[in-house]
Amino acid sequence: MNTPVDPTTTEAWADLQTLKDALVPDLRGWFEADPHRAEELTFDLADLRVDLSKNLINEDVVAALLRLADQVGLPGRREAMFSGERINTTENRAVLHTALRLPSDAELVVDGQDVVADVHAVQDKMFAFAEKVRSGEWKGVTGKPISTVVNIGIGGSDLGPAMVYEALLPYKQDGLTCRFVSNIDPSDIAEKVADLDPTTTLFIVASKTFTTLETLTNARIARDWLLNALVDAGAIEDTDEARKAAIAKHFVAVSTALDKVADFGIDPDNAFGFWDWVGGRYSVASAVGLPVVIAIGPDGFRDLLSGFHAVDEHFRTVAPEGNVPLLMGMLNIWYVNFWNAHSHAVLPYAQYLHRFPAYLQQLTMESNGKSVRWDGSKVTTDTGEIYWGEPGTNGQHAFYQLIHQGTRLIPADFIGVVNPAHPIKDGDTDVHGLFMANFFAQTAALAFGKTADEVRAEGTDEAIVPARVFAGNKPTTSILAPVLSPSVVGQLIALYEHITFVEGIVWGLDSFDQWGVELGKKLALEIAPAVFGDAEALAKQDPSTQSLVSWYLEKRD
Ligand code: F6P
Repeated sequence: MNTPVDPTTTEAWADLQTLKDALVPDLRGWFEADPHRAEELTFDLADLRVDLSKNLINEDVVAALLRLADQVGLPGRREAMFSGERINTTENRAVLHTALRLPSDAELVVDGQDVVADVHAVQDKMFAFAEKVRSGEWKGVTGKPISTVVNIGIGGSDLGPAMVYEALLPYKQDGLTCRFVSNIDPSDIAEKVADLDPTTTLFIVASKTFTTLETLTNARIARDWLLNALVDAGAIEDTDEARKAAIAKHFVAVSTALDKVADFGIDPDNAFGFWDWVGGRYSVASAVGLPVVIAIGPDGFRDLLSGFHAVDEHFRTVAPEGNVPLLMGMLNIWYVNFWNAHSHAVLPYAQYLHRFPAYLQQLTMESNGKSVRWDGSKVTTDTGEIYWGEPGTNGQHAFYQLIHQGTRLIPADFIGVVNPAHPIKDGDTDVHGLFMANFFAQTAALAFGKTADEVRAEGTDEAIVPARVFAGNKPTTSILAPVLSPSVVGQLIALYEHITFVEGIVWGLDSFDQWGVELGKKLALEIAPAVFGDAEALAKQDPSTQSLVSWYLEKRD
């Protein structure tokens, strides 16, 4: 195993520190002094236009950030990922989500296995199945076509398909709806199935490992709900055979563990596989995307994959100076490690992207929330960013106050779309135009602020001038897309995947494991008997937990 370069020992790191110490943020002045600043710092990435000019950077900073990427060996690690080396060291796995997006005529052989052929064989199976569901050829046990798909999964087996489904609702086939059950809180599944007709419902059980407590519990509840409802309604007979036939028509699975799928009672013909080299949070382009394929159809899904692939190719081949994921990843390093930024806002000016921040939370925080490097040694600097956000303009009326006038530096990515799915007018006013005016206004206000003199010039009472001053110099990146198409959604996801990769490489992390979620899972199973009233198990807990569980038991009806 090679040792990661300690970024803090590189020349570029020292240069960046010197640049930071000397830099006085002045976005107003910088734009005035350089009429080409916007142009020079705006890039095209597939269909996306990405403007980095409202960041706290100049030419020297960008050059030093790119030197840092080089000095930590980023180009070599990137190639190692794309070519299938086992860069997920703690799990000894290749990291090949990019292979899920390769066209069928591409070539990638890993450990003697033709990965592209494997990927396309599963895609073909998914597409054929989805077509049957969409056309009504796939029928429930009583002969009715499917109208609702319920995906049961959690983490990467939920957030990706749920986010993409919501993002692409305008592309969804009429008469077909998807729902997503993830939480083990029984309220989730209870609410999601409450108004469903079991005869027209299809469950997808999605779990990479097929061992996840939440998913398997919800899958069993769903199975009981379906079978009991069918028997109670007289739709099927109360026999094992009839139940098995019903499961075959109403349950499919997505997993890397096809043996466990069979143990659960799902017909292996109705199972869609993927591979251990696809991380859960990187899996939406795999069979985990099945609900999306059913909703938008194979052509729409192919378009989504082509968007991913365009950005993969850009990241792999474009020179550093114009390589958008590389530049954005290095910008994040600049803010985290040199400006002490702790969090990063993602603000989609597109209601359809309302789950994108939640999706990015798993992608970025499960990947880079680490304090040891890929060789087990301690990290040498701060790692990880807290991603958060809400769609504009809702956020404007909630938390933007802190971004504008608070004491914390919060780099923010604004994501907007030019052509709306619903070109609605309010009288003569184009409402989408009004919406986007807010996007443009906010990024300008954050960058350029409002001086005390400007506030005074409005006739403001001197006593409240300070409260109405906006310091400006709040960094933002603007990302615009012509339309929120499947391809654009793929482009956005791949962009953030590669940003996350870049940061992880600088910090020396294995961005593809997630050991940090294990302890809580194990303890939950140990504490469960205490919650169910086992006094011995309760006595083994710490005093605080004992007291909490006791109170819980006392109040339980
Ligand atoms: O939270 C840990 C995790 O392993 C995630 O990385 C993963 O996406 C999620 O659980 C679900 O795992 P699975 O798909 O195996 O059910």
